[in-house]
This record gives sequence, structure tokens and C-alpha cells, in this order.
Amino acid sequence: MSIPEAVVEAVRAARHILVVTGAGVSAESGVPTFREAQTGLWEQFDPHELATPEAFLRDPELIWRWYHWRRELVSRVRPNPGHYALAELARLVPGLTLITQNVDGLHQRAGSEDVVEFHGNLFEDRCFAEGCVVTNGDMDAPAPHCPGCGGLLRPGVVWFGEAIPPQALHTAGQAAAKCDVFLSVGTSSLVWPAAGLGDAARESGAMLIEINPDATTLTDRVHHYLQGKSGEVLPELISSIARD
Ligand code: OAD
Repeated sequence: MSIPEAVVEAVRAARHILVVTGAGVSAESGVPTFREAQTGLWEQFDPHELATPEAFLRDPELIWRWYHWRRELVSRVRPNPGHYALAELARLVPGLTLITQNVDGLHQRAGSEDVVEFHGNLFEDRCFAEGCVVTNGDMDAPAPHCPGCGGLLRPGVVWFGEAIPPQALHTAGQAAAKCDVFLSVGTSSLVWPAAGLGDAARESGAMLIEINPDATTLTDRVHHYLQGKSGEVLPELISSIARD
């Protein structure tokens, strides 16, 4: 697709860009999204059985099997051109905040720095009781325990009903207030509070741009909807802003 000139100009002139990504940015790497018909994880599995603290306490071994499966899946894949383009974009503009709802670490593997992980990290282990990150737990155990307090270890992701890490929320609020361009990439914009960041940025006067093959709940409020896959549209955007 060709990128509209108004988008190229706005990105070139931007002092601060806020990028919010979702599962779609990793889809071309082979990581399943959550809500797409047929292939979405929440189409095949019930999130209430797998992604709540209550479910974990009911059956920690089941939850660990599911997260070990996801860890293995993500370990086998690589970042795609969309991830690399966002790392490049950060080098081309004066300021950029990258907020991801993804827990797969692919932005970091593509070279993005200071990534704000809204929903935690799949590869982190946390003590269920104390919340601290544990790096030396026995990860081969079917339900590993904290070497410090002996309590259960859990994956370091945010489950339904749990709070977003306060620092991530704070950074997001500040970036939404100061950005002049807001870029939504590969998210259905259905899960709060990430879903509200576009409107917050718009109220602060930012230009809203969305990259997604399918329209979302945000699409009717963006200034520019770039319909397509992030692994194709983002590299195109980079070449457009880098050309003379
Ligand atoms: P969803 O599965 O809700 O949405 C994925 C979006 O990616 C959809 O809008 C797709 O159209 C789009 N998409 C698919 N392929 C794409 C591609 N190649 N390029 C760009 N976009 C593409 O995933 P999220 O919006 O990330 O939370 O879901 C948000 C949260 O809900 C997740 O972080 C997770 C989930 O429950 C937790 O686990 C806490």
C-alpha cells in the first residue's frame, strides 16, 4: 500500500509518538492472536479457565502446562518485519514510547528499547504470594515453588481481573498526554485500559493512525486507517519517512 502523504508528514514532524501494539503485530511471526475466528486462542480456550488467579489456584499444574506450551511456541519464532520497523522508527524520531499488550518479548528481540509491557512477560516467574520476580525457581517442576518463601510461582503475566503494573500505567498516561502521533498496531482495542489510550491521545490533540487488516472499535475515530498487515505496512511507512 502507499502511505498517505499526511501520515508521512505527521510522522516526520512528530516530537513524540505513542505506539500501542497487540497480538496482531506478532501474528506474522506465527504467534496466535486471541480473538480472531478459527485461530484466536480465546476461540479455542476459555480465558476464565486459564487466565485468572482463581483458575491458577484451582489447578496450578494445568495453568503451568498452558504457559509452558506458550513459552515453547514463542521461543521457536522470530520477530517479523513489523517488529524491526518499530525498532527503526524509534531511531528516526526524537521521542517514542512503545507500549505492548504482548507478553512474547518479540519487540525487545527486534531491538526496541524501553518497551512498556502492559500485560507482563511470558518468560518471567513471579511469586504468587509476594509478587516478586524469581529467576532461580525450579522451572522443570509441574508447579514450581518460590525458593524464598516456598509459595507457588506463577507466570509473570497480567490475568483477567488483575491490575496493570502501576509504572506501565503511569508511563502510558504521560505518553498519551504528550504525543503528537498515536499509532495503534495489531490490536482489537477491546481490552481496557489499553483500549482507552487512543481516545486519551486524541483529546490531547494527537493524530490517530491505525494499522490492522480488519477494522476495530477504534477505526471510526482514527484520522488515518492503514488497512493491512503490520509486517507489510510498517516497513512501507519507514521507507516513506526515510526517503528524501
Ligand atoms: P486480539 O486477538 O483481540 O486482536 C488481534 C488484532 O490483530 C485483531 O484486530 C486483528 O485484526 C489484528 N491482526 C491480525 N493479523 C494482523 C497482522 N498481520 N498485522 C496487524 N494486525 C493484525 O489481540 P489484542 O488486541 O492484543 O490480554 O488483545 C488484547 C489482550 O487480550 C491481550 O493482551 C490478552 C488478551 O486477553 C491478556 O492476556 C491480559
